[in-house]
Amino acid sequence: MAPLPSRVLTFAVLPSIILVALCSLADCYDPLDPNGNITVTFDIHQYTSDGYVARITIQNYYQYRHVDKPGWTLGWTWAKDEVIWSMSGAFATQQGNCSAFKTQAHSCVKDPVILDLMPDALPENRSEDCCRGGLLSAWAINPSKSFSSFEITVGNLGANSSWSAPQNLTLMAPGPGYTCGQVLDTDPTVSSDIDGRRHVQVYRTWSSTCTYSSFLANKTPMCCASLSAFYSPTITSCPKCSCGCREADKTSGPCISTSDNYLSSEITNNPDLVQCTDHMCPAGVHWHIKNIYMNQWRVKLTISNYNYQRNFLDWNVLVQHPGFSQPATVYSFNSTMLPTDGFGDEVALLWGIEYYNTELLNADGDQLGSVTTEILLNKDADSFTLRNGWAFPRRIYFNGENCKMAVPDTFPMLPNGSSSLRSTYCQILLVFLALITLLLLGFDQ
Ligand SMILES: *[C@@H]1O[C@H](CO)[C@@H](O)[C@H](O)[C@H]1NC(C)=O
Ligand SMILES: *[C@@H]1O[C@H](CO)[C@@H](O)[C@H](O)[C@H]1NC(C)=O
Ligand SMILES: *[C@@H]1O[C@H](CO)[C@@H](O)[C@H](O)[C@H]1NC(C)=O
Ligand SMILES: *[C@@H]1O[C@H](CO)[C@@H](O)[C@H](O)[C@H]1NC(C)=O
Ligand SMILES: *[C@@H]1O[C@H](CO)[C@@H](O)[C@H](O)[C@H]1NC(C)=O
Ligand SMILES: *[C@@H]1O[C@H](CO)[C@@H](O)[C@H](O)[C@H]1NC(C)=O
Ligand SMILES: *[C@@H]1O[C@H](CO)[C@@H](O)[C@H](O)[C@H]1NC(C)=O
Repeated sequence: MAPLPSRVLTFAVLPSIILVALCSLADCYDPLDPNGNITVTFDIHQYTSDGYVARITIQNYYQYRHVDKPGWTLGWTWAKDEVIWSMSGAFATQQGNCSAFKTQAHSCVKDPVILDLMPDALPENRSEDCCRGGLLSAWAINPSKSFSSFEITVGNLGANSSWSAPQNLTLMAPGPGYTCGQVLDTDPTVSSDIDGRRHVQVYRTWSSTCTYSSFLANKTPMCCASLSAFYSPTITSCPKCSCGCREADKTSGPCISTSDNYLSSEITNNPDLVQCTDHMCPAGVHWHIKNIYMNQWRVKLTISNYNYQRNFLDWNVLVQHPGFSQPATVYSFNSTMLPTDGFGDEVALLWGIEYYNTELLNADGDQLGSVTTEILLNKDADSFTLRNGWAFPRRIYFNGENCKMAVPDTFPMLPNGSSSLRSTYCQILLVFLALITLLLLGFDQ
């Protein structure tokens, strides 16, 4: 009496697999973060004789996608003959041809490109909430560091104050993948003053929303997931060629085997150099079902870095699993639950604890960089089971990128012992039911 384990699970997981497949094909939004975006606002809060002073804010609303090193790059095209007289909290990469002006100008190019200042910028170059080296935290992890602001003084507009918003906003954060909408007039930004008792508003606000598409970013996958359980000797490893194949595929990065005698100069010259594996991913996440107790179950989660050059600062991992509907204890990572708005299973977001494991170190020789935690989950009596691979995650993301995972058919399975135990129970139950039926029939006559 063999159960139909994989088929049942396949049905449960199929819709989400289809969604993920669609996402990788088209410019699709992330169903786990449907409202995620980066919003750029221009708040005009002062008029000048020939223009205005604006505070520009880049706010990352992505729940678990941060802007990593080397940071954001913002660009736009002026609608008229604007020049930037001065700027604080950031700088334009080109000054351009300012020979038409008698006073010194910061940038006279038609399409300025702006970069953030470093945290050690001089006080005279700073503005409020500035200078993070272009890094923005994910919104669900650290909202206080999820935005960056800078001030520009725009002029050369004459006395005519019918200004136009900048056009064709571009955002690299840090690479391509972001598309920004038109810069539009919106309700003026309101902020509070005098301990929140007074509200002040800027004269005028323009804003644009930028969204990410991994399809546009054209990135090779960067993560894969492997699975194991105490009840099975099988380890479901990362699917082969998850992030590229070892030799045949020339698009995948270079790799070295730990047994190779490599030169250290070879490593430093290759930022994408990873340890040779069947999956070739720079990062891997392993989910091991460790123990089952009366009312709880324990998982060990390990994140490994196969890259020899890159360490992942402020990494995060997202796990979608129905078990998170019950309170869980995450021992060595910081964690929060994300709203799912009734879509699919619960989603837990995990990241490092400050001064302890926020940095996932690069691989070194035979040693992989890794961070690990145990998670103690409570059992929900109605749904908990070890059957059909239920205890494995539905989806795992690393730094906002979907981790390739094997199909449920290959998940570690319960040994036959327990299923025959189950069928014995079934047989006893059937006999019992038959007896009752017989009794009732007998009663009838
Ligand atoms: C951008 O994100 C914010 C916060 O999630 C949301 O309120 C806003 O509607 C989003 N904007 C767009 C255009 O989706
Ligand atoms: C710089 O701008 C001035 C005034 O607009 C112009 O006359 C001059 O030719 C420009 N120089 C260059 C090198 O483009
Ligand atoms: C910082 O300010 C000084 C003096 O105001 C200026 O000379 C310098 O170019 C500024 N540096 C940057 C990076 O904006
Ligand atoms: C301001 O500019 C607009 C269009 O650029 C024009 O229609 C208007 O007449 C100008 N006003 C003044 C006072 O120059
Ligand atoms: C903005 O981009 C559109 C389409 O690429 C282009 O037609 C338009 O000329 C651009 N506007 C400016 C001011 O560069
Ligand atoms: C967890 O993250 C929150 C928000 O970033 C932070 O305030 C808190 O201190 C963190 N806890 C630990 C133990 O790192
Ligand atoms: C368990 O059952 C499957 C199919 O019923 C069979 O192929 C497999 O050999 C069995 N394994 C053991 C360890 O008995």
